[in-house]
Amino acid sequence: MKELEQIRTMYQHKNKDIHNLDTWNEVKNLFLGKNGYVTSCMKEIKNLDPKDRKSFGEAVNQLKNEITVLLDKKKVELENLEIEEKIKSMPRLDLTIPTQEECGSLHPVTIVQQKLIDVFRSMGFAVEDGNEIETEYNNFEAVNIPKHHPARDMQDTFYLNNGQLLKTHTSASQNRIMKKYGAPLKVIFPGRCFRNEELDASHENTFFQMEGMMIDKDVSISNLIYFMKTMLSEVFGKEVNVRLRPGFFPFVEPGFELDCSCPYCGGKGCKVCKQSGWIELCPCGMIHPNVLTMGGINPEEYQGFAFGLGLSRLVMMTYGIDDIRHLNGKDLKVLEQTKVK
Ligand code: DAH
Repeated sequence: MKELEQIRTMYQHKNKDIHNLDTWNEVKNLFLGKNGYVTSCMKEIKNLDPKDRKSFGEAVNQLKNEITVLLDKKKVELENLEIEEKIKSMPRLDLTIPTQEECGSLHPVTIVQQKLIDVFRSMGFAVEDGNEIETEYNNFEAVNIPKHHPARDMQDTFYLNNGQLLKTHTSASQNRIMKKYGAPLKVIFPGRCFRNEELDASHENTFFQMEGMMIDKDVSISNLIYFMKTMLSEVFGKEVNVRLRPGFFPFVEPGFELDCSCPYCGGKGCKVCKQSGWIELCPCGMIHPNVLTMGGINPEEYQGFAFGLGLSRLVMMTYGIDDIRHLNGKDLKVLEQTKVK
């Protein structure tokens, strides 16, 4: 009986040392395990004097029950503690932190393109969407660039296994649009173009153009000059002048480079126009009779002008972006500056 009392006292001490499930298991084994103190006492019962067996047996059982209850209680405590620790270590969702509402915005190319579309629509032009994957015929042959023509060298691109290619210029849509509308027509067709380029600040493998055509019975270079001048004045928000210089493109005859008086310095000379007062913006010309014929339009009856505005260039100029790669890049700082608030 004295021994039982010692075991009880010993357990009370040990109970305080239980801080986790490992020590809980150790203590449980120490007292209730196969060779534990309490278990050993139980094994002793059979060796006792028969008259002492009952009372000793009852006392051992009582001790065993006491210890079991205390161990169970301790286990529940430990488990609760573990849950609390887990909750404490979990990231907290603080609903009181003010949220930062970062809204996206249209891409600068989209913004300028939309502006151009608005201007041309107001002048009676329809808007068409061109394909990005084109046939060799549409991209080259139909705009008077037959196989082995040296102009193909300047427009190397990415070819697909089926012989089609990623269009190198929006002019690739001319033929399809002529066939769709017939003459007379007034259409613009913005689009993404691709070339196999060495990349640098002014060359990208993916860039944007905005092409336009007007075909009718009495279309002349004067119409071309009028529409380009009106369009550019609208885009820059001030009256600009334009001038034509000769330029060669197989699909126009005559062909021109159209320059716009620098909208930033008014023609006096600045960084944007490289002190010349003029900005080279838009190749154009009178549509070549071969191109009209291939588009199903009789060149004896109709004439027309076409232009291929470098949309990416215009965007860069508008926003003062000095590297074309930013337009397809992921630098949010650039996009942040062009954001429409
Ligand atoms: N397609 C030409 C290019 O990407 C640009 C161009 C020149 C388009 C003259 C035209 C044009 O419509 O008349 O280099």
